[in-house]
Amino acid sequence: MKVLVIGGGGREHALCEALVRSPRLTRLWCAPGNAGIARVATCLTEVGAEDLGAILAACRTHAIDLVVVGPEAPLVAGLVDRLRAAGIPAFGPTAEAARLEGSKGFMKDLLAEAGVPTAAYGRFTEAATAGAWIKAQGGRPLVVKADGLAAGKGVILCDTEGETLAAIDTMMTNRAFGAAGDAVVVEERLEGEEVSIFALCDGTTAVWMGAAQDHKRVGEGDTGPNTGGMGAYAPAPALTPALRTRVMAEIIQPTVDALAARGTPFTGVLFGGLMIHEGEPRVLEFNVRFGDPECQVLMARLDGDLLALLDAAAHGRLAEVDPPRWRDQTALVVVMAARGYPGAYEKGTAIGGLDAAEAVEGVTVLHAGTRAGPDGAILANGGRVLGITALGDSVTQARDRAHAAIDVLDWPEGFCRRDIGWRAIDRGA
Ligand code: AMP
Ligand code: GLY
Repeated sequence: MKVLVIGGGGREHALCEALVRSPRLTRLWCAPGNAGIARVATCLTEVGAEDLGAILAACRTHAIDLVVVGPEAPLVAGLVDRLRAAGIPAFGPTAEAARLEGSKGFMKDLLAEAGVPTAAYGRFTEAATAGAWIKAQGGRPLVVKADGLAAGKGVILCDTEGETLAAIDTMMTNRAFGAAGDAVVVEERLEGEEVSIFALCDGTTAVWMGAAQDHKRVGEGDTGPNTGGMGAYAPAPALTPALRTRVMAEIIQPTVDALAARGTPFTGVLFGGLMIHEGEPRVLEFNVRFGDPECQVLMARLDGDLLALLDAAAHGRLAEVDPPRWRDQTALVVVMAARGYPGAYEKGTAIGGLDAAEAVEGVTVLHAGTRAGPDGAILANGGRVLGITALGDSVTQARDRAHAAIDVLDWPEGFCRRDIGWRAIDRGA
């Protein structure tokens, strides 16, 4: 099979590394890709992940058999609809099913309709109506969410009524997130432990694809501003086998069934951000793609044919294939970012020591934001730049291996969190 992966981050590098292990793969392309992906795929660097027309043209030129879409933006923009209309199979949801991530209000209404446990909420398009609802909540902690995509920044956690009203002002009056905040969801603030869970879906069947724990804050001890994710590990100790069975039965399958019943079946990977409190899982958010950096640790543990799974999902045949098999080991990824991220940062700084880092036992260096410079140099080309991914017999061993690799890297302009996995390590994992 000839496969085209869309995207150019660490998630797409992890997917490409897993796809090339498949005996069915004949050739792999990636648009636009990055310097690490270029080791295993032909990068179409001129084709942007949101350039739907250029992606379609590339599929025709290279006679692509399957498109695997990494990021949410092209999904929400209707890439899969365009590909299907052109007869090109794709792994990822249609625009209508991608509204699960593209519109928080749509997601909340669908979950309410399907009886899936989630925070109590209100949905508003007028600041005054939102304000009245907030004042009726008795001052309990709330969360304000921009309805549309806001690059992971459209969520404001509030402790007091004053903060909640100020958040409404920021989004609806000052339009800090542009059109994404013209409609908002205000919801109950949940306490507990967060877990990311993944399920492959083919429209009707859903298959467990693993769980991971992410660290979203930039600073050690989970402090500072939110980022796309500074590190992750899998499996997630908080997600016990009993809980996994409940999550599939009470959260994933009802969501898949509700979308199918509306005539907009979900194909691709459903990513649930769950809050677990006293053993009860509730949905914080749904995404319609693999997490980044969660995908890096899922793929490190996958012991089987990823292409067979994604192809089966794209063709409604998940019930016919063997479910994914996993290595016993723990995987942990530490993200290295450019100093300043998630604020302003420099691009184009040189990264040395990559070969020495990869020589550390169990370590793979995945590229998130890099490009090739002159004379084979690897240059930083984004906020999150590398994902140092390690397998180990415990979370502690995987973390120590990742740190050993980081210690031999030569990139003074980069930084990372040294405490990825701390919750699990504190529990003795
Ligand atoms: P989202 O973009 O919806 O994933 O929200 C970003 C982050 O905000 C989540 O990963 C949680 O850490 C936090 N969050 C979102 N909704 C809630 C909620 N209802 N209660 C507590 N924390 C939340
Ligand atoms: N790591 C969180 C996300 O991909 O949204």
